[in-house]
Amino acid sequence: MARLTDIGWNEFHALPLEAKRPYLERVEGGGMPYHTLFAQQFDRPILERLCALANRIRFINKSKEGALYLKSVLAHKRAMLYFSQPSSRTFLSHLAACQILGVTTGSVRDAATSSEFKGESHEDSIRTFSSYFDMIIMRSPEQGLAEKMSWELSNSSRPIPILNAGSGKDQHPTQALLDIYTLFRSFENKGGIDGKTVVFCGDLMRGRTVRSLSYLLTNFKDVRQVFVAPQELRVPDDVIAVLEEKGVDFKVSDDLQAAVRTADAVYMTRIQDEWDESKGASAKIDTSRFKFGAEELKLLPADGIIMHPLPRRDEIATCCDHDPRAMYWRQMRNGMWIRAALIASTFGFEKSIMECGY
Ligand code: CP
Repeated sequence: MARLTDIGWNEFHALPLEAKRPYLERVEGGGMPYHTLFAQQFDRPILERLCALANRIRFINKSKEGALYLKSVLAHKRAMLYFSQPSSRTFLSHLAACQILGVTTGSVRDAATSSEFKGESHEDSIRTFSSYFDMIIMRSPEQGLAEKMSWELSNSSRPIPILNAGSGKDQHPTQALLDIYTLFRSFENKGGIDGKTVVFCGDLMRGRTVRSLSYLLTNFKDVRQVFVAPQELRVPDDVIAVLEEKGVDFKVSDDLQAAVRTADAVYMTRIQDEWDESKGASAKIDTSRFKFGAEELKLLPADGIIMHPLPRRDEIATCCDHDPRAMYWRQMRNGMWIRAALIASTFGFEKSIMECGY
């Protein structure tokens, strides 16, 4: 089995993402990740196992006895939530997932409140967290930081797993897991995810959730991907290159209404102007044709769903919120269950939860 202790950082860093996967797996985890860094670590069997575990945790948690059992599963573990970028959902759903499993948590939500403010390096900060905790769940504006820290920790005397809760403009693997779980549940009795058309719309250039989800969808059969965005915010070439290499049917378009007519799922995203290189650059882009409102709702097929990683601004009109096809609130809650499944499996408790008597 490949281990991060067997490979130097430069050599590991230079590998294609899919080739990194074996180095990040849990020993005897049957392919389950130990460090969760990017979507390329998940194939279909692993996604199906995680969705089944999330369903199981959701079910067990319904009864008081079941909830108390779940709280005992990881009562001996502590997790650090290290978020140096703003977050509501990803922070809170990981926190709630930890609470479901009995994991005790600590947090830093602003580097200005940690000793990084005094000049401590990320490496030293992470090493400090690993002295007190058994897992680090981290969000950072820096692409690749979670990967570097995983290698550092695995090569330290306190190797503990890292979950990437969003890295730069690059990847958001646990968001993609909750998106897949939402699609999995939405189409459970409608033929599953295979054969569906997923329309991505909005800021596709800087949306890390889009990159991660687009990759995860390649694990399913005959899923068509349609990318609708203003010219300035078009889906990046690296995402297209993956789809071409895998022979995925995809289309790049600027016509949201035409795409909605053929969609099984419409995945709206907000304009990510926090990444603007010059202040106010995004405000100059005409985004008026890339919003989902009452007209689009009429065009969406009866079995279609509307998704959004949230937070939203005005790209989905609030008049859509009570439509049964609006899945974004459920999507948010699904994040708590699938993250609980990921945390439990990271610590090796998949089998015992699946087989418990509740
Ligand atoms: N979807 C998402 O990452 O939301 P937050 O930024 O609120 O965590």
